[in-house]
Amino acid sequence: MISAMKIFLTGAEATRSLGVTLGKYLSANSVILLEGDLGAGKTTLVQGIGEGLGITEPIVSPTFTLINEYTTGRLPLYHLDLYRLEPQEVVTLNLETYWEGFEVAPGIVAIEWADRMSYQPHSYLSLHLSHEDQGNRQVEITSHNFVMNAEILAVFKHYLGS
Ligand SMILES: Nc1ncnc2c1ncn2[C@@H]1O[C@H](COP(=O)(O)OP(=O)(O)OP(=O)(O)O)[C@@H](O)[C@H]1O
Ligand SMILES: [Mg+2]
Repeated sequence: MISAMKIFLTGAEATRSLGVTLGKYLSANSVILLEGDLGAGKTTLVQGIGEGLGITEPIVSPTFTLINEYTTGRLPLYHLDLYRLEPQEVVTLNLETYWEGFEVAPGIVAIEWADRMSYQPHSYLSLHLSHEDQGNRQVEITSHNFVMNAEILAVFKHYLGS
């Protein structure tokens, strides 16, 4: 079982393309926690997820709005950005509303600057983006009790070249 892997992302299109494959195959109630320095590619990846879900409206960074919801795709996409918040403010947001799927329709929850969270869901996929040489990026993907469906497993195996 794959629990951690690193993928080299040569250019923004590679970041977006990884997002597209995730958006095509992730199941409802998937939580994606994105970490990485300023400009590491978090929003680019979520834009890919949106494309993979079939959302046609532009996915814009929710740095100021905190959350943007998109409901025109295969599943709802809840895109959050905690950059401007302190961990004690994040606690008051009751983010679990988005992954419990009772009050909101079950969808994909993608959270930028997830390191601002002082608690995490029981299961999630962690994507840590970092800057590499020549402006490229790398993403380290770690599964935390995240149940991968066959399609997602196949995607990751493809990236690992096996
Ligand atoms: N693999 C890559 N190689 C080179 N450039 C990339 C790569 N992935 C994304 N970029 C570029 O990096 C820039 C910043 O991307 P993006 O806005 O997605 O980062 P971010 O992590 O969301 O930033 P912020 O910290 O401000 O939220 C964009 O111009 C994007 O096209
Ligand atoms: Mg961003």
